[in-house]
Amino acid sequence: MSTVAARLHSLQDHGARLRGVPLSRLIEADAGRAARMSLRVDGLYANFARQAVDEGAFAALLAMAHEANVPAAFRALFRGDPVNRSERRAALHSALRTRFDFPEAAAAFDEAAQARRTMAALARKLRASAVTDIIHVGIGGSDLGPRLALDALQGFTDGRFRVHFLSNVDAHAADRVLGTLDPARSAAVLVSKSFGTQETLLNGQLVRDWLGGSERMYAVSANVPKAQAFGIDPERVLPMWDWVGGRYSLWSAVGFSMLLALGEENFSALLDGASAIDRHALDAPPERNLPLAHALFAVWNRNVQGHATQAVLPYDERLRMLPAYLQQLVMESLGKRVDVDGQALDFDTVPVLWGGAGTDSQHSFFQALHQGTQTVPADFIGVIEPDHSHASQHRVLLSHLLAQAEALANGDPGATPQQRCPGSRPSTLLLLDRLTPASFGALLAFYEHSVYAQSVLWGINAFDQFGVELGKHLASGLLPALEGKAEATDPVSAALIREIRAPR
Ligand code: F6P
Repeated sequence: MSTVAARLHSLQDHGARLRGVPLSRLIEADAGRAARMSLRVDGLYANFARQAVDEGAFAALLAMAHEANVPAAFRALFRGDPVNRSERRAALHSALRTRFDFPEAAAAFDEAAQARRTMAALARKLRASAVTDIIHVGIGGSDLGPRLALDALQGFTDGRFRVHFLSNVDAHAADRVLGTLDPARSAAVLVSKSFGTQETLLNGQLVRDWLGGSERMYAVSANVPKAQAFGIDPERVLPMWDWVGGRYSLWSAVGFSMLLALGEENFSALLDGASAIDRHALDAPPERNLPLAHALFAVWNRNVQGHATQAVLPYDERLRMLPAYLQQLVMESLGKRVDVDGQALDFDTVPVLWGGAGTDSQHSFFQALHQGTQTVPADFIGVIEPDHSHASQHRVLLSHLLAQAEALANGDPGATPQQRCPGSRPSTLLLLDRLTPASFGALLAFYEHSVYAQSVLWGINAFDQFGVELGKHLASGLLPALEGKAEATDPVSAALIREIRAPR
């Protein structure tokens, strides 16, 4: 049995002791539980009272964090150690927002600060031009963060630019985006760390043709020569670095379109909000460490309770894209089957993450959360102060948020088996005082560090993603077959291609 499996195994006694104890009983039996199992870091509050643990189980989880040396691992992350072991790289996304007093991290911060000055200068020039619309072209980590941020923080833009996102290689997406725009008043930002992602390059070419050249094209990439070869003036190429992973990169020049729409001040506030969580993750003791607590409950739910999926339920329309963003952050980071040394794991890792905004989701998949045969742990996310003036309607929204978490936890005996809701379905409640660039930055950094802490507890690398390469490689082999220039080697793919190419 691996060391991690043995640690997880030692939690099983607590799991067995608590199995069959209703969550409602744990809550009723302990008047101080709701207050004790809550943490606040600036404008971000978390309540873990509806996780199915008692003090003994939480102490065992903390012991596991201690054995896995999570505090030292946070230090290694922030110091710029090569925590991405398979690619021998640092993962210094924290240096995009926090100047930690470690030599490599501080140098990275200074480099990022220089890039921000360049971004700001380019943004000022663009503001002074006739451009009204920005087309952000990128995919995965080069798309999801800015896309979510601008949807969430729309209220903080001054309307000077409209930003449009183009990610899918399906040209229906390009037709939809470009169909509404005037090329003479548009500029494009091509975001690709590698500058080798087929989808982004093809959409980039399509947009370049539509714009009539690359004069109003910007690039964000760690591969400057390739961006230049594409025809983008080096003065309009913003840097990326191999020490920032794509899904951790919205804080860098990858967020150029965010800076354009939100302005420098809001962009800085976003970084400051994330920075507060960086410092908290490093300084807070394990028993009061917000991302670590979240990670420990994730491990408890996955490995002790055996829950295979995790829901994210923002009760705020502005955060409706959060589940999609977290799907990449969590599942690309933690979807691993070997440990950092390449040894096959003898325990489960990433749950399937899914979700949607409340209250809409209540009228689609919540039935399964309440009465399905599988328990789905949930993160509920609410915002206390809305940015609209319909206070009573906001209270209705919050009443639903609270009611759903309560119903999942406590259930209801019902008059018939069909009506019975079993309860004991765990959830975490996250509350933001207000949705601002700072609190939004804090929320995302909180999830980033929870993901990292989970990877440390499991002994896996959160910063590589070799699994996504196989499909890309096969697609390049299948393209000639689709074009009729070759035969597909896989018999099923060959049959499918005959079907696709059949005259009709
Ligand atoms: O899908 C794999 C992936 O490498 C992601 O990790 C990354 O965010 C995305 O592709 C885009 O990569 P790039 O920024 O290099 O175009």
